[in-house]
Amino acid sequence: MNKPSKTRRRAWTVAAMLASAAVSVAAAASLRDLIDSENPVKRGYALVPPGVVLNLQGKDHLLVGLGSYIVNTSGCVDCHSYPTYSPGGDPFKGEPERLNAEEYLSGGRQFGPITAANITPDNAGKPAGLTRAEFIQLLRTGHNPKDPPGTIVQVMPWPVFGKKTELELIAMYEYLRAIPSLPDNTHPGP
Ligand code: HEC
Repeated sequence: MNKPSKTRRRAWTVAAMLASAAVSVAAAASLRDLIDSENPVKRGYALVPPGVVLNLQGKDHLLVGLGSYIVNTSGCVDCHSYPTYSPGGDPFKGEPERLNAEEYLSGGRQFGPITAANITPDNAGKPAGLTRAEFIQLLRTGHNPKDPPGTIVQVMPWPVFGKKTELELIAMYEYLRAIPSLPDNTHPGP
């Protein structure tokens, strides 16, 4: 049997190197495409539930879009909208999803004695009655500056959300500023 010549071996090595370079160039190109096409601000606007009308006046539009992306993909509605889905719109029952826009983020899911709060803007436009600094402090530390010293908000996954970047927390607050102000949920439940 002929041993492969040195030249042939070299040719194969070069071909293999070129092939692997082509694969990484293709991977880089498709990642680039994703980064260009999967704009979180655009996605955020697409994720605003139908029926929720944003008030963008005096708001930063980029932050609102980014904030919507984060709020609407981080489970806030699971606890802070009750019921989370409108009748006939529960994806867990195989129904086409329809979020409860009428009570969007007005609170109401109960965990024993603790009820998820209304986090829509108050009369002064402040989500859950919190300034931006207070909101960020709550998410970072679990302490609501409106509560007595030493108290820690329960159930709410602030240890997770508090790991987000400053920009993301600022964006979440800006989005919550733009959603409709609603009274506290009148029929809370588990
Ligand atoms: C697992 C359920 C759950 C999820 C998910 C959740 N929360 Fe909460 N949240 C709660 C509960 C319960 C409270 C009230 C805690 C208490 O009173 O001790 C609360 C309280 C809050 C408060 C304080 C409001 C006040 O008036 O005290 C804010 C602000 C808040 N949540 C924002 C958010 C945001 C923004 C998200 C999504 C990024 C989110 N929450 C996701 C359950 C949740």
